[in-house]
Amino acid sequence: MADEKEIETTGHQWDDEEGYPLKEYNNPLPKWWLYSYYATIVYAVIYWILYPAWPIPGGEYTKGVLGWSQHKQLEEEMAASQAAKKPFNDKISALTTSEITQDSQLLQYAVSAGKAIFGDNCAPCHGGGGVGAKAGGFPALVDDDWLYGGTLEQISETIHMGRAGQMPPHLDSAEGSFTAAQVNDLTQYTLSLSGRSTDAGAAGRGDALYRGDAGCNNCHGDEGKGSLLGSAGGEKLDTSIGAPNLTDAIWLYGGDEATVKTSIAKGRKGNMPAWEKDSEGNNRKLSELDIKLLSIYVHTLGGGK
Ligand code: HEC
Ligand code: HEC
Repeated sequence: MADEKEIETTGHQWDDEEGYPLKEYNNPLPKWWLYSYYATIVYAVIYWILYPAWPIPGGEYTKGVLGWSQHKQLEEEMAASQAAKKPFNDKISALTTSEITQDSQLLQYAVSAGKAIFGDNCAPCHGGGGVGAKAGGFPALVDDDWLYGGTLEQISETIHMGRAGQMPPHLDSAEGSFTAAQVNDLTQYTLSLSGRSTDAGAAGRGDALYRGDAGCNNCHGDEGKGSLLGSAGGEKLDTSIGAPNLTDAIWLYGGDEATVKTSIAKGRKGNMPAWEKDSEGNNRKLSELDIKLLSIYVHTLGGGK
């Protein structure tokens, strides 16, 4: 207790009964702490002067002498990004899709712009990156297997007008005119087109129905290669039918026996909306430029043939 006198106290003191007083020391703050503390005050005052800071009566606030605001910054950034895109968009608007793909710089721009538009408008059905979804009959766009064609013109037409694939129901209880046994035969024949039939007798009867009473070949072609590649009775099929190729491993709804049977029995109705105009023929949902960018993007996804 010898050096007690040298210690500065606040003068506060609590006496306890034993006679040992409890004192409050007044130790100076460390210098580094004190200076940093003053620095933060100076910083705050400068900040209040330069930037928007304090609310003032009337719903207003101090604006700061720099005139900076988050809204202004966003507007400037958006304007700068629009200005950077303009020369590309102008060129793209003036060229055809195939001309655009000849120019590697424009192609690169179109693919990345198209990708963003795809994410906003198309991914909800076709999946991120166009991987498709069998549960909804949403075709994958990443393979080179097409219902309506994978050229730039065909893809552009699909996006402009929309598509509605109609697979009629065949089972008599589902508005069709074939018995359950016949639907089973047709299913076995369909499986045989990709080498997976387990009942040769049924597949043979299904074959006869396919190009006979059921007339499946009028849409899926004589060899089951779909309306795009197939032909019926030697004539080329209308490519706008959208009947899928039944001979490959790519399926719109699913290639397992039960799903194939459901497709044949109950029919299917795919609906790709039109993006150019609504049903009244107005209100473009996507601009001509957007559709161009998208067509190019989707074309590159499918291998760009
Ligand atoms: C509401 C869901 C939906 C949306 C949104 C949608 N699609 Fe589709 N799309 C479909 C369906 C379903 C089909 C298959 C149509 C059929 O079965 O006849 C399809 C088919 C297509 C095809 C044809 C594929 C082929 O194999 O020929 C292309 C290309 C396509 N869509 C691109 C797009 C693009 C690009 C967008 C965005 C602008 C888009 N789709 C938005 C549902 C959708
Ligand atoms: C009027 C034309 C038409 C006829 C006739 C027709 N189909 Fe289809 N079929 C289609 C279309 C279009 C689709 C695709 C439906 C869609 O886009 O939603 C389809 C889809 C299918 C599917 C689903 C394929 C998949 O990838 O998931 C199978 C299986 C099928 N058809 C088999 C047959 C069989 C078997 C017959 C004869 C009993 C037949 N179709 C008759 C047009 C037809």
